[in-house]
Amino acid sequence: MLEERTVDNKWQGRANESIGPVLLQSQAIRDRIGELGARIKEDYKGKTPHLVAILKGASIFHADLVRSIELELSYDFMAVGSYGKLAKSSGEVRILKDLDESPEGKDVLLVEDIVDTGLTLHYLVQSLKTRSPKSLKIVALLNKPSRREIDVAVDYIGFDIPDEFVVGYGLDYDQRYRNLPDIYILRLGK
Ligand code: PRP
Repeated sequence: MLEERTVDNKWQGRANESIGPVLLQSQAIRDRIGELGARIKEDYKGKTPHLVAILKGASIFHADLVRSIELELSYDFMAVGSYGKLAKSSGEVRILKDLDESPEGKDVLLVEDIVDTGLTLHYLVQSLKTRSPKSLKIVALLNKPSRREIDVAVDYIGFDIPDEFVVGYGLDYDQRYRNLPDIYILRLGK
C-alpha cells in the first residue's frame, strides 16, 4: 500500500516530472538497514568484510549500511556506466572508476542501491570473480524482480519493489533527487 505523501514544494520536480507518492519512508529504510546490518554481522562473524559500493546510486545506502554493521570492516568504491541503452541490453558495462585496492583474498560484499535487469551486477560479479576474492556476496537495498533479464543471486535484499521509476536516497532522475531522504515514485508526463 503506497502512502500518498507529497514532497515539499522545493521538491515538486521540474515540468513533466511528478514526484510522489512515497514508496519508502526514511524511517522504514533505516529500520530495514538495521536488520540487514545485524544479519551481515552474524554471517561475517570472525571475518572482516570488504564492502564495495557501486557509485553513484549506492553511496547513501552504503554510508548507512556500514554504520549498521558492528564488525571491523573495510570498504572501497567502483563506478560503472553503460555504453548506452542498446549496448546495455548486451550486458556490457563500462568501468568508470576501478577499485583502489585489489579484492584478492577479501570477503567482498558488493553494495548496490537497486537491481533492475541484473545486467550491471552480472557483469560486476563476473569481473570481480576473476580477481580472486575469498568470497563474493551482494547486498542491494531495492530489487525489482519483475524487470530481471539475467539471473543474479542477491544475498541480502532490503525491499522488493514494483516496476516503478524511483528516486531519492541516492537514486536519481537525470542526476537529480539523490538527496531526498525518502524514496519516491517519479512519474513523467502530465
Ligand atoms: C543503477 C543502479 C545499478 C544499475 C541497476 O545505476 O545503481 O548500478 O542501475 O540496473 P540493472 O540491474 O538494470 O543493470 P545507474 O546506471 O542509474 O547509475 P548511478 O548509480 O550512478 O545512478
